[in-house]
Amino acid sequence: MTAAVIDGKAFAATLRARVGDLARAFEEKAGRKAGLAVVLVGEDPASQVYVRSKGKSTLEAGMASFEHKLPADTAEADLLALVERLNADPAVDGILVQLPLPAHMDEQKIIATIAPDKDVDGFHVINAGRLAVGQPGYVPCTPLGCLMLLKDKLGDLSGLDAVVIGRSNIVGKPMAQLLLAESCTVTIAHSRTKNLPDVVRRADIVVAAVGRPQMVKGDWIKPGATVIDVGINRIPAAEEGKTRLVGDVDYAEAAQVAGAITPVPGGVGPMTIAVLLRNALVAAYRHEGLELAPDAI
Ligand code: GUN
Repeated sequence: MTAAVIDGKAFAATLRARVGDLARAFEEKAGRKAGLAVVLVGEDPASQVYVRSKGKSTLEAGMASFEHKLPADTAEADLLALVERLNADPAVDGILVQLPLPAHMDEQKIIATIAPDKDVDGFHVINAGRLAVGQPGYVPCTPLGCLMLLKDKLGDLSGLDAVVIGRSNIVGKPMAQLLLAESCTVTIAHSRTKNLPDVVRRADIVVAAVGRPQMVKGDWIKPGATVIDVGINRIPAAEEGKTRLVGDVDYAEAAQVAGAITPVPGGVGPMTIAVLLRNALVAAYRHEGLELAPDAI
C-alpha cells in the first residue's frame, strides 16, 4: 500500500483564493485594503526569498504590502523604532519581522515590541499564552497550516495519538497546543527523547519538525498513520554539484507504510504564507470591528 499524498500546494492555493475574496469584501466594507508589513534585516539569501514571496502573495490576495529592508548593521534601537511606527500605523494590520535576526539583536525583545493584535506570526508571549489557555489570538502560521491539512484529511481528530517531533516555539510547541485543543493525546518528542522510534510508532498522527534530513524512517511509522513533514532540508543530489530539498521524513520509506503523507516540496511549505495572509486578514477584520464567521477561513 502507498500513502495518499496530501497536496499542500493545492490546499494553499484554495486558501489564498478564499483570503482574496474576503480581502475584497473587507475593502468594500472598510474603505481601505487590509495591510501586512514585512521587515527584513540583512541579506540572508533564504530570508530574502521568503520575504519577496510574502510580498508578492500579499499583493496577489488584494492586500497592501509594506516592505521594510534594513541593513544587517542596523542598530537594535532603530528596528524597535520601526516596529513602534508600524504598531501605530492604522494602515498596517499585521507585522512580520523575518527571523533569524542578526546576532547583535535580541529576537525576544523585538517580538515583545510588536503589538499583540498585529502579531500575525503568533510569536508574542501574549499570543502564545492565549493559545495555551484557549483564548482567541494569533497562532503561528506553520503549525496552523499543518492543523488545517490534518483536519481536511482526517476530519475529527479527537482521541487520536499525536506525536510532535521538535519543541521549537515556532512549530513544535504551538503544534502540540493545537492538537491538544483538538482533543488528541499529544506527545512532544525531541533530541533527548528515549527510544524515539518506539514513541513515533504509537502515533496516529506524526508531525516532524526537527530540521534533520530524512531522520524519520519507514519502520517508525504505524501502518495507516498520517505523517506531516515540516522539514525543509537541502542535501546533495545524485547529480554532481546539485542539491535537492528533502523533509525530516524518509519519504520513499514512509509512503509505503503511512495512510497519508505530505511531500517535500509541495506539502507544508506552501501553507505557511497562505496562513500568514489569513492571519493578516483576520487582524484587519478585528481592527475594523467587522464580523468574520469563525469558519470563514
Ligand atoms: N523565519 C522562518 N520562518 C519564519 C516565520 O514563519 N516567521 C518569521 N517571522 N520568520 C521566519
